[in-house]
Amino acid sequence: MNSFELNKILGALLGTCLVLLAVHIAAGAVFTPAPPAKPGYVIAVKAEQPTQSSSTSAAPAEQPIEAMLPTATVKQGEADVKVCETCHNLGKGQGAKIGPDLYGVVGRPVASEAGFNYSSALKAKGGTWTFDALNVWLTDPRADVPGTLMTFAGLPSEKQRADVIDYLNSNSDKPLPLPKPAQAAPAKPATSTAASNPSSSSAPVSPAAPTPAAPAAPAAPAGSSSNAPAPPQTNAPPAGQGSPAPPK
Ligand code: HEC
Repeated sequence: MNSFELNKILGALLGTCLVLLAVHIAAGAVFTPAPPAKPGYVIAVKAEQPTQSSSTSAAPAEQPIEAMLPTATVKQGEADVKVCETCHNLGKGQGAKIGPDLYGVVGRPVASEAGFNYSSALKAKGGTWTFDALNVWLTDPRADVPGTLMTFAGLPSEKQRADVIDYLNSNSDKPLPLPKPAQAAPAKPATSTAASNPSSSSAPVSPAAPTPAAPAAPAAPAGSSSNAPAPPQTNAPPAGQGSPAPPK
């Protein structure tokens, strides 16, 4: 093999490499990957509510809607409710679309429109569409009622929910009076003080009850032994809270 032959082979190799390099550069120019502004994936996780005092399973709507309703406007709500009209009629007697007619829904029993085929999940919810119930529902329907047919992401903005609920309330034969924050407040503390800390405050609670010690103590062990009235005076207070106390 003379040097001329070798040059041809090496030239062919070099040429191939050059072509490959050119293709690589050209491809890089055509398919430029855009780096994400923030590296990593966004994983949608609902933020834990640190102060979960109430028993509602759908935590997001923690603030009572009463606080927002006074500033809500029917006009804004009428505009916001457009997204609902994809699936809902709002006029009286217009009937169902994908969802039931929402005329007069505020104050209406849940899943009560005749002729609409509600999901069993919503039928099981029960109760009435109060301002509060609607507030929780519209925050995230599928969190409020898992298995609902309302495939709507929800209205994350509290202001928007208040406007929409205000409008829905006005869109009715008999709009309900808007709840006042002051009215809603006393209801909760009254029930919670009576039921929540029975062990420590068994003495203060008993004067309110007609027959002092006996009825207050059985309530403390949380209803499990409601038919055992005898033991209350001696060991009821320790049994309610501190388990190590009674054996002594
Ligand atoms: C993608 C369609 C869709 C959209 C958008 C939608 N809904 Fe619904 N909605 C439904 C369906 C379907 C149901 C019945 C749910 C079931 O049976 O589980 C429903 C049920 C309801 C109910 C319960 C009614 C009853 O009689 O118990 C209310 C209240 C409601 N929707 C309000 C709204 C509001 C307010 C909006 C707009 C913010 C909205 N929906 C947007 C489909 C939708």
